[in-house]
Amino acid sequence: MDYTLLNNGVKIPMLGLGTYRIGRTDDDVYNAIRTALDMGYRHIDTATLYENEAPIGKAIRESGIPREDIFVTTKLWGDDVLKNEIPQAFDQSMQLLDIGYVDLYLVHWPVKGKLVSTWREMEKIYASDKAKAIGLSNHLQHHLEEILDEANVLPAVNQVEMHPYVVLNDLVDFCEENAIVCEAWSPLGSSKVPLLEEKILREIGDKYGKSPAQVVLRWNIERGVVAIPKSSNKERQAANLDIFDFKLTPEDVQLINSLDKNYRTGIHPDEIGF
Ligand code: A2P
Repeated sequence: MDYTLLNNGVKIPMLGLGTYRIGRTDDDVYNAIRTALDMGYRHIDTATLYENEAPIGKAIRESGIPREDIFVTTKLWGDDVLKNEIPQAFDQSMQLLDIGYVDLYLVHWPVKGKLVSTWREMEKIYASDKAKAIGLSNHLQHHLEEILDEANVLPAVNQVEMHPYVVLNDLVDFCEENAIVCEAWSPLGSSKVPLLEEKILREIGDKYGKSPAQVVLRWNIERGVVAIPKSSNKERQAANLDIFDFKLTPEDVQLINSLDKNYRTGIHPDEIGF
């Protein structure tokens, strides 16, 4: 596993497990997380929206792995921002997870007119030491600029949809210039697009004995982007972790970048209805 450092010195694994719809029941979720932790995952990404914090927390507690060895992220949902209930929302996540602290707390989506006031509340949560780092998700450059202008604590992370169909080089560069680590959600492009069937990815993978999915994940981490592929399947979880024994050439990277269509499978951050 490779790690990078957040702007406050906290260490984050470059690959984590996404958990949106990872299981239909709490038992499914629990089992998927236990399986992932047993095989070596040390970074789990959840959110209030996913309604799975309780079984994830239970799986972490019962894994036998020291708490400090697992990086856990959860996220603040926009409804709680609109209700002015940010501290209550955080406390609720903490109660459901029941793991003492979270490593990273993110604002899930930008809420219009409330970017800076939300960030102030996030800074208070950071000061409480119950979140070791705070950051953003689905924020574009203009959202980041508005927050950076007023921030006392710099956002550590911006997590957005990112894969070879939506490369977002400008956003990655802006984040790097501002010491914000980018994370990719749906790094494999989700099942809504045929990204993993691209011939280019198959041909690159064949050179290294790797699958298109492994090539895409490697491409993410080589550009400094933390990837959190979701899989509830043991074999695919293992495959997604097995990307630290090969390296792409600059030509491979150029070919992968050429797939860019600036196409999101999810909502555009300016169109979220908060
Ligand atoms: P599964 O859970 O059955 O493995 P998301 O876009 O939410 O991150 O979801 C990723 C999608 O890609 C899921 O449908 C997941 O299905 C699938 N997936 C995860 N890993 C792989 C892989 N290595 N190869 C192919 N599909 C994958």
